[in-house]
Amino acid sequence: MKTLAWASTLLGLAAAAQLQQVSNFGSNPSNVRMYVYKPDNLPANPPLIVAVHYCTGTAQAYYGGTQYANLADQHGFIVVYPESPYSGGCWDVSSDATLTHEGGGDSQGIASMVKYSISQYGVDASRVFVTGSSSGAMMTNVMAATYPDLFQAGSVYSGVPAGCFYTGTVNGWNSTCSGGHSIATPEQWASVVHDMYPGYQGEYPRMTIYHGDADTTLYPQNYEETIKQWAGVFGYDPNSPIETDPNDPAPPFTKRVYGDKLVGALGAGVTHNTPHFEQEDLEWFGIV
Ligand SMILES: *[C@@H]1O[C@H](CO)[C@@H](O)[C@H](O)[C@H]1NC(C)=O
Repeated sequence: MKTLAWASTLLGLAAAAQLQQVSNFGSNPSNVRMYVYKPDNLPANPPLIVAVHYCTGTAQAYYGGTQYANLADQHGFIVVYPESPYSGGCWDVSSDATLTHEGGGDSQGIASMVKYSISQYGVDASRVFVTGSSSGAMMTNVMAATYPDLFQAGSVYSGVPAGCFYTGTVNGWNSTCSGGHSIATPEQWASVVHDMYPGYQGEYPRMTIYHGDADTTLYPQNYEETIKQWAGVFGYDPNSPIETDPNDPAPPFTKRVYGDKLVGALGAGVTHNTPHFEQEDLEWFGIV
């Protein structure tokens, strides 16, 4: 009984942490907003997950609508929720600025949040991860391509390949891409990634790609193209997964493993509203 009371006191303390806005977190040319969830009882040098909201979303909505913060209390990591500076709440994944390492767009502001968290909160720089839904999933691919040096792994919920949404304008909508008509080879998609950070020779983050095959917002061809993109980067064959697991991580998804660094999971009959597999993400990130 004493143990129970003590445990609930601890839980009570953990639940006391709140989502907080941080200003002046470093170079932020496009005025992205930074929110952070920092549990009270953190280990030294905790991991960090950057969780990027969908269009019309907010940091608060993504904090409330996903389990990352609850899991942060349980497992001792920090969550940063970036917030879009644009009225529609989408991310800029279409301009030259955001699609370039240190190019002056949203990606640079989000990278600054990671660097700030490492210097101010003591985050372990070798355990930084990124995830996001829809526009935030597009941004997840963009972060992995523009700042591969900052992230060890990513998980993408219903996005498009990095660079697929290019319009040459800030916060544009590319209907060729959304409709699933931007088709390229793995080599072509890989060079789109490499061109975002010319000269970079290091590793790219391990990626998991979730998508629904009944998605009519970002058509399911975008799943195939995203797999091709990262398969191209890692040198895997997108047509021959080394493992296929039905009902993994849950029905109606089928998981396909292409290599140590790339996993896909396509949901049969699943629309744009893909469920989040937060626990699976923690395993993929190596947090649990
Ligand atoms: C949309 O993106 C594709 C690549 O995905 C590109 O070829 C096309 O030019 C873009 N459309 C516009 C209007 O920029």
